[in-house]
This record gives sequence, C-alpha cells and structure tokens, in this order.
Amino acid sequence: MSVNKEIKKITTHTIQKMKDAGEKISMITAYDYSFAKIFDSAGIDIILVGDSASNVMAGHETTLPITLDQMIYHASSVVRGIERCLVVVDLPFGSYQGNSKEALSSAIRIMKETGGHSVKLEGGEEVLESVKRIEDTGIPVMGHLGLTPQSIYKFGTYTVRAKEEAEAEKLKRDALLLQEAGCFAIVLEKIPAKLAAEVSKSLHIPTIGIGAGGACDGQVLVMHDLLGINTEFKPRFLRQYLNMGEQVTGAVKNYITDIKSGDFPNENEQY
Ligand code: KIV
Repeated sequence: MSVNKEIKKITTHTIQKMKDAGEKISMITAYDYSFAKIFDSAGIDIILVGDSASNVMAGHETTLPITLDQMIYHASSVVRGIERCLVVVDLPFGSYQGNSKEALSSAIRIMKETGGHSVKLEGGEEVLESVKRIEDTGIPVMGHLGLTPQSIYKFGTYTVRAKEEAEAEKLKRDALLLQEAGCFAIVLEKIPAKLAAEVSKSLHIPTIGIGAGGACDGQVLVMHDLLGINTEFKPRFLRQYLNMGEQVTGAVKNYITDIKSGDFPNENEQY
C-alpha cells in the first residue's frame, strides 16, 4: 500500500473555507528561514512577512524605511523554510502609493523573486485601483485597515483607531470596497472590538485581527512580541507565550561563563 505523503498546502481558498466553516485562522509574522520552518511545522495557517521587519529586524522606529529589495530578501528566506502554510508579503511604504502601475510592478517583483503567495497593502479607497490591478493580474491581495503603521506620521500616535463615528464609518465602507475589489482577507489593526465584530459579520471574506477583539475570523501577532523577544512592547492586546529574551540572555550568560572558566569546550567537544 502506498502512503500519500502529499502535503496539503494552505491557499487563499482554504482560508475562505475556514471562515465559511467558522474555523479561526492563525497568522504570525516571520522574517527568516529558521523561524518560518518552525512556525510552519507547528501548524500555523499564514505567515506574514511584515514590514514590521523594519522595526524588529532592523531596529528602525517605524516601518517606513524598509525597501522593496529588503522585503524580497526576508520573504524569499521565509519561503525556503515553509512546506504548507500560506505566505503573505507586505508591500513596503513607497512601493505602491504612487500609482497602480507602480503597485503592480512591486507586487510582481515580490511574486517572481520570493515565491510568496500573496501581497498585503495598507489603506482603503485610496488604494482601490492598485488592489484591482494587482488582483486582475492573478496576485491575491490582503488588505489592512485601522491602525496602518505606514501612516504613523499622519496619525501622530499608535493609539486605537476608528473610535469616532466618522472614522468608523469610513473603515466599514473601505472594508466593503476592498472586498469588492477582490481582496481575499483584511487585517484589522487596533480598532474597537465592537466595530471589528460588525465588519467581520458584514464581509464574506475573512478578517484577521490584531488588537481588534475576538470576533475577527483570525488573529495575527508579531513573532517578537508573542515570543517575548521584544519585551519593551506590552500593549493590552498582546499575549506573550514565551520569555525568549530572558531565556536567551540566560543561555548566552552561561556560554560566556563556560568560555571564561575554560569549561567549554571539554574533551568530548573537541577533535
Ligand atoms: O507588518 C506587520 O507585522 C503587520 C502586522 C502587524 C499585521 O502588518
């Protein structure tokens, strides 16, 4: 009897079926081969190669400085580490806002040069033409509404968005427009849980929340936050699953001590 070892890959269609079946979608960020491999074998549904790489990998204050070439480097490393999950790659600031032709050529570079499966971009009505043009080319697009970090200098703060009626109404409209334009899912970042619940119910495509409450169809967190690598960032919405920063510090301290004392390497650790 032959065993079918074919791996069931997660596609945008799987993600839609999950929403239809009421199954929650899990998403995490990753930026390199090794972590992507761990998250994929742990069973994550989606890996987002976020432009948060600008913060957590490069140490910038905002997501604005990261370039398309740098995103391509991170995304292609992630893709080499995965076997089954869906990979979404952020279009970085400045690579799609100019016009829809620029947006399409950035999306095409990501697809050709990384092997990723889809792109994500921030904004609603303002980016609709780009979303349509990318979608029409056969590239799946994930939207991103609410706190969109590429607009941080316009917002002036990282606090909760769409608390006021006018902004909430625009967000609801934008979500429907993105769905109509062909987005396969939308990230809702840092908005009131009640609004996220309303948006999630009004859409047939899935919503993925970050700081947007439990009624979203899925959840996403930045890996450095949930693993406790970045311990300075402690927003209310974050659940930290590991104290990796502390554990790594302890391990490296032991390593230093062992080198200084001459304990490492011992007889069994040499040739
Ligand atoms: O870049 C990123 O990590 C993101 C998530 C916060 C959704 O866009």
